[in-house]
Amino acid sequence: MNMNLTLKIWRQKNAQDKGKMVDYKVTDISEHMSFLEMLDVLNEQLVSNNEEPVAFDHDCREGICGMCSLFINGEAHGPDRLITTCQLHMRKFKDGDTIYIEPWRAKAFPVIKDLIVDRMAFERIQQAGGFISVNTSGNTTDANAILIPKKDADLSMDAASCIGCGACVATCKNSSAMLFVAAKVSQFALLPQGKVEAADRVMNMVRQMDLEGFGNCTNTAACEVECPKGISLENIARMNREYLCASIAG
Ligand code: SF4
Ligand code: FES
Repeated sequence: MNMNLTLKIWRQKNAQDKGKMVDYKVTDISEHMSFLEMLDVLNEQLVSNNEEPVAFDHDCREGICGMCSLFINGEAHGPDRLITTCQLHMRKFKDGDTIYIEPWRAKAFPVIKDLIVDRMAFERIQQAGGFISVNTSGNTTDANAILIPKKDADLSMDAASCIGCGACVATCKNSSAMLFVAAKVSQFALLPQGKVEAADRVMNMVRQMDLEGFGNCTNTAACEVECPKGISLENIARMNREYLCASIAG
């Protein structure tokens, strides 16, 4: 069934603008459309009326890149679980609904325009240690020659599925980035290749996380509920253990 909807959308011209919620009507929206396609319809409507289209982030539109980032009716990535905004379908809404659409709200993610926020803080945390240094001299051991327990490989893969969307930060009442950083620390800490630089990695990434102004984790677990990739809180516990061991070792 097709729907007529009222949209209340955060509009903000630039980082300095105060910003405000603005009402829009969209009509004849198919339940088979994705949420972003519905916003495309709105933007076509705005452009044909010589109005400024709503700026929002997106790229792959298939749950891989982590670019889409909308707070929909008070929930990061909307009302569904284990999906990104681009995977949300309009069948989750009803004809006549009013939908509130806002950007991620966190001090470390300042709004650039409308629904787009600056997530470079995540990049800087990654640059502080979210990698392994590989010797490419030609004398390195083939990675496949190092046996890894299946359980560790699976946990590492699960952690590596974090797409860096920032929903965990947007959901957390403290704007904590612990789930994101813990996933990035864990994916390496679980593998022999990552253990070489593990102590420096966790110390540097946590230091950068704090410098960026993210809040602390108080174990509410809202981040785990809203994470589109189901990243487990166990990663935060692992990161805390890694951090403690690295601190004691000096
Ligand atoms: S932990 Fe989940 S919510 Fe946070 S950035 Fe990664 S995928 Fe997104
Ligand atoms: S647009 Fe890439 S995850 Fe949504």
